[in-house]
Amino acid sequence: MKILMVCLGNICRSPLAEGILKHRIAEKKLDWSIDSAGTGSWHIGEMPDTRSIAIAKKYGIDITGQQARHLISADLDRFDLILAMDSSNYQNIVRLAINEEQRQKVKMIMNFANPGMNQNVPDPYWDDQGFEKVYQMLDEACMKLIDHFT
Ligand code: 4NP
Repeated sequence: MKILMVCLGNICRSPLAEGILKHRIAEKKLDWSIDSAGTGSWHIGEMPDTRSIAIAKKYGIDITGQQARHLISADLDRFDLILAMDSSNYQNIVRLAINEEQRQKVKMIMNFANPGMNQNVPDPYWDDQGFEKVYQMLDEACMKLIDHFT
């Protein structure tokens, strides 16, 4: 499985999602490949947000090695599953799809936890208190995703 986590800036939510899923698949000894990207280009090359680094560290996960990158159309070819954090990300990703196969790869990540609800992972960029909730939501979705595919 090759899975790409996608948010807007690739500094808050998707780096956390990448870190959490890598951590959870290592526990299960799954040989999956996980990456993340942003639909926006403002933060290309930056490390994750310090608040995402801190919440990951609280749960024993190191995401400091990540570097923000921009989503590219080749990602829709290269990955098996492209997971959007919110509906705006979803629409921006699907816009890059060139065929139905690519469109079908794009899913809302929280649908693994709450099927069919199309729930958004709230953008915590302007909300220091939001990171704990984002962490818990993503951890639940990642564990359910692993259950779904194993
Ligand atoms: P993310 O959060 O999409 O979870 O990485 C954001 C980071 C930066 C901005 C917006 C959201 N920004 O506007 O710069």
